[in-house]
Amino acid sequence: MIKGQFPVEKFHSLETPFYYYDMDLLRQTLDAVKKEVEGKNYIVHYALKANANPRILREIASYGFGADCVSGNEILKALDCGFPASKIAFAGVGKTDKEIKIGLDNGIFCFNVESLPEMEAIDRLASETGNVAPVALRINPNVDAHTHRYITTGLEENKFGLNESDLPKAIDLIEKSKHLKLIGMHFHIGSQITDLSSFEDLCVKAVELQNWFSQRGISFEVLNVGGGLGINYHHPNHCPVADFEAYFRLFAKYLKLQENQTLHFELGRSFVAPCGSLIARTTYVKEGTTKKFLITDAGMSDLIRPALYQAFHHIENISSDKEYETYDVVGPVCESSDVFGEAVLLNQSRRGDFIAIRSAGAYGETMASMYNCRALPRSYFSDSL
Ligand code: LLP
Repeated sequence: MIKGQFPVEKFHSLETPFYYYDMDLLRQTLDAVKKEVEGKNYIVHYALKANANPRILREIASYGFGADCVSGNEILKALDCGFPASKIAFAGVGKTDKEIKIGLDNGIFCFNVESLPEMEAIDRLASETGNVAPVALRINPNVDAHTHRYITTGLEENKFGLNESDLPKAIDLIEKSKHLKLIGMHFHIGSQITDLSSFEDLCVKAVELQNWFSQRGISFEVLNVGGGLGINYHHPNHCPVADFEAYFRLFAKYLKLQENQTLHFELGRSFVAPCGSLIARTTYVKEGTTKKFLITDAGMSDLIRPALYQAFHHIENISSDKEYETYDVVGPVCESSDVFGEAVLLNQSRRGDFIAIRSAGAYGETMASMYNCRALPRSYFSDSL
């Protein structure tokens, strides 16, 4: 296994736990995406929910990517960090009037509409404010993403998107409205998808639906296939850039764009997961009756993924070269699920060692809480330490 490169000597003056971002790796990732989409009719919207740290957002915006937002505050943050309104898509099943108005007032690119009542609300608010709202129909394609149940979004049992049976009514509503402009179709089937054939299934469904619409004389400028590209959390080098080439090649193969049509993506995790690590210190090594616990000063309040989804994150002791020992790596929070890894092989640890929990740049900082009155983790960046 390759150990990560961390400027450990610089960490000594910093209070743990904190997120550490390798900005070169972030740029390497963004370069890889840019290379795949350049010269094509593809627009990639970065999903802010994965990581909304302003430094990270500004870096992503500087590449010219768009933003995928799921709340009014995410829209405001995206604008504040340099994403143009003309590239902001707004999804979510529960957009409030206040949030819809934020979208309308700022002239965002598109509302991804997830239900008929939401469409009525957007229509009413657009009419009250004298706007025409660009909308894409988020359709639940009933395609299995073969990922964790909690992050599967494109099955009939999930709350997301319009059902196919809603579509005639949706068309009717839009045709009758002077304040809604139908520009596209939107899908998002789930997250941490490593079996790319799920995206193939999505493309087949998208083409079928596109044909259904064109039989009714409706064509779309925008096809939005959402996000979901997974990363390899188990890779021996622990921070590999996702296979963007295979991902975009698949869509090029299965979705033939019509003239003047753009294909939109909403990638979150694959942009930011590899570049972030949660850095903690060993508070205690405790001998249990059957195992040894390494208790860190980071807990599930800083990184909830292992507790919530039984997610794997590679863990390293970056202070020690001693022989390997097996530990359950746990946090200080009063929950038995506050475990980062069971039976983890680590260089022998003592109090104060730095422990790195890798590939934590996505859904780490954004999902942190203050449970147990803990402070939120800080963040540091490789180019400004
Ligand atoms: N578009 C929509 C409409 C979404 O709901 C999501 C993620 C994305 C794009 C970005 O998906 P990504 O490329 O990041 O997979 N907290 C979970 C992941 C939840 C994903 C929610 N939606 C985790 O830590 O695994």
